[in-house]
Amino acid sequence: MKGILLAGGSGTRLHPMTLAASKQLLPVYDKPMVYYPLSTLMLAGIRDIMVISTPADLPQFKRLLGDGGRFGVRIAYAEQPRPDGIAQAFLIGRDWLGGEACALALGDNLIHADHLSQLLRNAAKRGTGATVFAYQVRDPERYGVVSFSDDGKAEEIVEKPTAPLSNWAVTGLYFYDEQVNDIAPRIKPSARGELEITDLNRVYLEMGTLQVEKLSRGCAWLDAGTPDSLLQAATFVQTIQSRTGMLVGCPEEVAFRMGFIDADQLRRYAGHLGKTDLGRALMELADGERV
Ligand code: TTP
Repeated sequence: MKGILLAGGSGTRLHPMTLAASKQLLPVYDKPMVYYPLSTLMLAGIRDIMVISTPADLPQFKRLLGDGGRFGVRIAYAEQPRPDGIAQAFLIGRDWLGGEACALALGDNLIHADHLSQLLRNAAKRGTGATVFAYQVRDPERYGVVSFSDDGKAEEIVEKPTAPLSNWAVTGLYFYDEQVNDIAPRIKPSARGELEITDLNRVYLEMGTLQVEKLSRGCAWLDAGTPDSLLQAATFVQTIQSRTGMLVGCPEEVAFRMGFIDADQLRRYAGHLGKTDLGRALMELADGERV
């Protein structure tokens, strides 16, 4: 399975911060925002990743992530000329995907959970259909919302509903089988002129092959698209890291734990981070001083 990291958009809710900088490169505590969804894709076991961003911002992503070697993955890049919708990612990545199954992670989404790797690997291994994750929120009207029948089956999925049928928001992490390559080109622009990911998910729902995994209370899902949520995400990462000593959203750590890079490689990259806490933590990991 391949993975697309979508990091374009206009980031208008973060103006003026995003007037001259990409939203997904803004810091979330001690790392650029894009590190978090990159780590998520890697935790799913995905090693072929395409980063899609605006023509203006793509060079900065290349500078930050390079060819992915530092993380033991292969990173390809493609431009999205205009923010014409999330589902457009599959049209932009079509040749690169070569008909394969694909996961899609939004560049401003952060998921932190116990046993996340297992959850993600199960989704990646599912074989047929699509898997999305639902999370209970207080402001469902901002998201794609999924409602369930009495027996717990996903019934309806609606983008930014004015009267939400539930408070289960669909998070920005999606796993699709190879049919996505045929379905995505058939999606038509919505009333707001975007190729909606919710319309793509609805096709799977109607085929009876959309698996909706409810994320439990113990999970945290944050999107860092507004000043408040950006600050909350930073505070969340700072709190977990300083309280427990665990790293959140660090692709070098994930690469090492997943066996994508060895201790010598990790030590070399940790060295580039110098005397930062992050560099020190990675060095300890490479030296076997961390569990
Ligand atoms: P949004 O937060 O819906 O849009 P945005 O990032 O442009 O921000 P704003 O609403 O403040 O103007 O997008 C969710 C994620 O998807 C975000 O990481 C940007 C990305 N995205 C694209 O890369 N291309 C697109 O065409 C769209 C709609 C979103």
